[in-house]
Amino acid sequence: MQNFSKKIMITGGAGFIGSHVVRLFVNNYPDYLIVNYDALTYAGNLNNLKDIESSANYRFEKGDIQDENLVKELFEKYQFDGVIHLAAESHVDRSILDPLAFVKTNVLGTVNLLNVAKNFWKNDYNGKRFYHVSTDEVYGSLGQEGFFTETTAYDPRSPYSASKASSDHFVRAYHHTYGLPVVVSNCSNNYGSYHFPEKLIPLMINNIVHSKPLPVYGKGDNIRDWLFVEDHARAIDIIFHKGSNGDTYNIGGFNEWKNIDLVHLLCAVMDEKLNRAAGTSAKLIQFVTDRPGHDMRYAIDATKLNKELGWQPSLQFEEGLRKTVDWYLSNEDWIKNVTSGDYQSYYQKQYSDR
Ligand code: NAD
Ligand code: TYD
Repeated sequence: MQNFSKKIMITGGAGFIGSHVVRLFVNNYPDYLIVNYDALTYAGNLNNLKDIESSANYRFEKGDIQDENLVKELFEKYQFDGVIHLAAESHVDRSILDPLAFVKTNVLGTVNLLNVAKNFWKNDYNGKRFYHVSTDEVYGSLGQEGFFTETTAYDPRSPYSASKASSDHFVRAYHHTYGLPVVVSNCSNNYGSYHFPEKLIPLMINNIVHSKPLPVYGKGDNIRDWLFVEDHARAIDIIFHKGSNGDTYNIGGFNEWKNIDLVHLLCAVMDEKLNRAAGTSAKLIQFVTDRPGHDMRYAIDATKLNKELGWQPSLQFEEGLRKTVDWYLSNEDWIKNVTSGDYQSYYQKQYSDR
């Protein structure tokens, strides 16, 4: 291990955002050892990392973040000086079906990691960092006006956001109580390649390809603030290296879209890419029963990250959306693979009664 200038555990590296973070760190920092620790749940997929899996500075370790013995063993084996923690149960609809799974992974799993890191580093925090990746959903729901800033009071309203809020509180508590060198970021909705098709954009792309109904919850007036996933990964890189100890950074694209407008834009892009007549895909839109407790609007003020650390999004939304559609259309095997098996029964359970 001595040859690497840093040894970093990235949790959840086989998931959507985690795989982009792993790829960026493995490619940009050949002198760092990157260990991807992931339980490979339904959302984790090693095919997301095919292009870097044989890199000299990359290792994969399969395991659960709740497994104290295994996490301790890996700290001993690799002598980590950094953790970038992304592993989580991440889908709001699944949290409504099974809240306890979210408490176990997001709360207990996070506290286990914090505890092992604290005990392993034994107050010698020089050069150490525990980076916790969180979501803007912890702030609750906005009306038509205003933005979430780093000082907005927490007001989580779904089992998913409540579990992420709880984990954020534990991370900050470990900083205040034990001096653990932490940094937290809260990001808005991501989109891009390797996104599991239970979430809005990849679900709609997949359904349009197969001419299946496009289930828009409620009236489609809910608003989300969308960020290209590679811009999120870049922000994580900058915050990991330059963020202030104990600090929080909001990450977002200043890119709000009403769901129904986004789905219409996606339909238009897909008609063009699939050589279908304009208006074909939009005919598939169906308004379905709303999500219980559906947050109305998320919007991030990312001024602090821009002013203090110089980050800004690199892509306009339509450009990012076109890139994303192109990726899904040229990676049919990936989507076929992740939508076989468990996905079908989830889809059935989630959408058949709506
Ligand atoms: P994802 O569901 O695509 O991936 C989660 C990964 O964590 C998977 O690889 C899964 O196998 C792994 N995992 C789940 N439970 C585990 C456990 N108990 N032990 C070890 N590994 C486990 O999630 P994502 O969308 O990539 O989100 C990653 C992180 O970013 C999460 O913490 C999420 O809260 C946060 N986040 C996501 C978004 C978004 O738009 N997707 C936005 C802001 C923040
Ligand atoms: P989602 O991608 O699940 O992210 P989040 O709920 O964490 O923001 O959903 C984005 C928005 O799209 C949200 O307002 C719910 C809505 N939505 C639909 O209308 N239909 C769907 O099938 C899904 C999955 C989401």
